Amino acid sequence: GEEEEEEKYEKQREMIRTLPKGRGWLTKEIILYQGCWLPLNWGLEGALFVQNHFKARPTDIFLAAFPKCGTTWLRALMFATINRSQYDFSTHPLLNSGPHSCFPFLDLYFSNSSSIAANLDALPLPRLFATHMPYSLLSKSVTSCGCKFVYIWRDPKDVLVSKWHFLNQIKSKDLPQLSLPEAFELFCEGVSEYGPFWDHVLGYWKASQESPNNILLLKYEGMKREPAVYLKTLAEFMGVPFSPEEEEEEEGVVEKIVELCSFKNLSNLEVNKIGVEHFSDELVIENHNFFRKGQIGDFKNYLTREMAEHLDSITMKKFSGTGLIF
Ligand code: A3P
Repeated sequence: GEEEEEEKYEKQREMIRTLPKGRGWLTKEIILYQGCWLPLNWGLEGALFVQNHFKARPTDIFLAAFPKCGTTWLRALMFATINRSQYDFSTHPLLNSGPHSCFPFLDLYFSNSSSIAANLDALPLPRLFATHMPYSLLSKSVTSCGCKFVYIWRDPKDVLVSKWHFLNQIKSKDLPQLSLPEAFELFCEGVSEYGPFWDHVLGYWKASQESPNNILLLKYEGMKREPAVYLKTLAEFMGVPFSPEEEEEEEGVVEKIVELCSFKNLSNLEVNKIGVEHFSDELVIENHNFFRKGQIGDFKNYLTREMAEHLDSITMKKFSGTGLIF
């Protein structure tokens, strides 16, 4: 009952107090839990919720990513693709609501709210969820139930720059801003929300090697260069391929979705210029923060050559033998 729940929650708090703490980029501190640095109020409590309460279904499709790798873009693409027969492009819901309201961000469901698990049960199928959690934190009941994961990742140099901008931008004015050299140091050490970056990618990469039908790895850079090609792969993976027979391809549905979800289109919509996403009471973010430049290689404008080379050398070492290096 409720008391039992409360007791469990208190035990959890106790456990959390014993975990290593590090400097947070957004909040004062982040917590090292099972090899991953997480903020307390989403992240860690979200991970515990998923581990303790969440029941995945074989039809569920997860969008997983390290923060700032392209979640906003993929959310829009996945939503538009799955629901393409329901909506007209001229009145599409993405024109009036921010991409983050399309489907839930799992990490925000806290460990003490089993009623939320019931709400999630009521979502239409297939359920779509976004998460920043590393693969290793997902319980066996989730990873082995047959559900699918779309994982997007990106050049860590651009991830660092994007993350540094974003978190400083949305940070409470009461907390000091993180300087770029500090952010760089911390990022290299793996100390940032959901870090280390490399372990995050490797976790999903390994899983994709083992079950390629359940995990699709996408790279931001590749998708920027050939969005239509990637979108077709994505649709096929999600079980809703574009059909030449029904003339979807001929009608240009692929291109229409690519266009609808493009940086240029989304970032210029009223809802994304002045709208706000209410993730939780503590996490309210103005949509425009999710759209900065949307380019490949913006790190060149911020990192010194030495910094860039150092990050590359870490990437080379960590990703050697994987085929992930570009
Ligand atoms: P930059 O900061 O480099 O511009 P996330 O969505 O995971 O938070 O990642 C945010 C990054 O994706 C930001 O990168 C943002 O500008 C970019 N982005 C957002 N929407 C995009 C879109 N529709 N197409 C391409 N990039 C997009």
